[in-house]
Amino acid sequence: MVLTGSEYDVVVLGGGPGGYAAALYGASAGLSVAVVEREKVGGTCLHRGCVPAKELLETAALYKAVSGAKDFGIDAGPPSLDLSVSQTRKKKVIDQLWKGLSGLMKSRGITTYQATGTLSEPGLVSLDDGGEVRGRSVILAMGSVPRTLGGLEVDGKKVLTSDEVLELKEVPERAVVIGGGAIGCEFASLLADMGSKVTLLEALPQLLLGCDTDVVDVLSRSLRRKGVTVRTNAAVVGQRRDDSSVVLDLSDGESVEAEAVVVAIGRRPLSDTLASGGSGVKLDERGFVVVDPNMRTSVPGVWAVGDLVATPQLAHVGFAEAMVAIRDILGEDPLPVDYNAVPWCIYTHPEVAFVGYTEAKAKEAGFDVIVKKDPFGGNSRARILGETDGVVKVIAEKGPDGSAGRILGVHMVGPWVTEQLGQAYLSVNWEATPADLAPLVQPHPTLSEAFGETALALTGRGLHVG
Ligand code: NAI
Repeated sequence: MVLTGSEYDVVVLGGGPGGYAAALYGASAGLSVAVVEREKVGGTCLHRGCVPAKELLETAALYKAVSGAKDFGIDAGPPSLDLSVSQTRKKKVIDQLWKGLSGLMKSRGITTYQATGTLSEPGLVSLDDGGEVRGRSVILAMGSVPRTLGGLEVDGKKVLTSDEVLELKEVPERAVVIGGGAIGCEFASLLADMGSKVTLLEALPQLLLGCDTDVVDVLSRSLRRKGVTVRTNAAVVGQRRDDSSVVLDLSDGESVEAEAVVVAIGRRPLSDTLASGGSGVKLDERGFVVVDPNMRTSVPGVWAVGDLVATPQLAHVGFAEAMVAIRDILGEDPLPVDYNAVPWCIYTHPEVAFVGYTEAKAKEAGFDVIVKKDPFGGNSRARILGETDGVVKVIAEKGPDGSAGRILGVHMVGPWVTEQLGQAYLSVNWEATPADLAPLVQPHPTLSEAFGETALALTGRGLHVG
């Protein structure tokens, strides 16, 4: 049914990946949809997150490639980096994608209200320009913002969050990154490849919590090799600042000084208006909206998706949750998102990509496992590229006869692994076994054959991997 005026089948609050995916998917299914977005559609991912970060990481990769071009017989002279040119290019890329997305939404008949919306009551979103929009169903997708450290005021010059790093016009000589999660590791890698002297501080004993330790070991080694000082078990507990620098006090009693500090200690949900507005939507103790597997909130007729809920804060998880919410609204009994088997891609150099159980988590869950690894050092394409740091690790369930059964997890670190995860993702999610994969032909020489080789080795008869 198409409702007229300011009344829609679905009103989506927030136009980031969770929100615009809900709008596009809902409109494809014939629903009338409105999106309320105070800035530009595309959200954090397009304007202040994934896309700009990957664009600047590409600049860093190219700078590194040109620096190493002599090894291939190409003498381009010592390269210099003008970050402001890269920023202009980044803006152009974002603008093109934003125009594409806006046009796509328009062509699907989606109405976008540029305003700040608040859920006043189920089915009613009030706008800060005085208007209101009604929806039979409302999807909350307001996203998240960077967390900050008490006392360490973000000034955009000496103390930055991801929002400000992505706008840098010059590479800082010395930088300290606080937090060794995905954002911290990506920025440490980016700044180091651009010539900054970086210290990476992580409160926990390892970088990238939740990542397989073999992968973390390779990444830590690679970061150190490019000059990053990686310090784990090092929580920032205090700070002092003067005109030229910031001194951070660490939990181990030491301190570090930097001219730029990047705070990457997680993101908090933007649920403040829900908490204060009497919407009735239940939040957990950290401010995330509480949802059931179909993304329904505690209020009938209201769903929530993306960074607003306590699930992996990844754009593609937002897409998946948006589709579950829309299918639930349509009464289609959707399959909930399997959060244990979503793909993870971290765009450090070398890159990290994984899906499913780590070896430790599989054992913790009670699985008897068989594991095989194929280091990129033996891969022809990686040798040709001169990018041999890395490994592919496949974890399979061990059957009663000792043979490898279902593939439980695949963990990769190395060149372009974010583009290689596809077949591993399908294998884990379709519960394939190494025997299922063994007859499949892998193109040679490719980086992606490392996954096939590793899976083949799990059948007990490998070619290159023993
Ligand atoms: P995070 O929660 O993944 O990592 C933050 C890290 O900071 C943790 O390891 C924590 O132990 C550490 N930390 C907290 N307080 C500290 C202190 N005082 N001193 C030292 N270390 C401290 O958060 P992050 O990296 O900011 O990312 C936010 C979200 O965005 C995450 O869910 C992340 O997975 C997601 N994201 C994913 C990307 C990707 O997959 N490529 C890229 C960017 C973000």
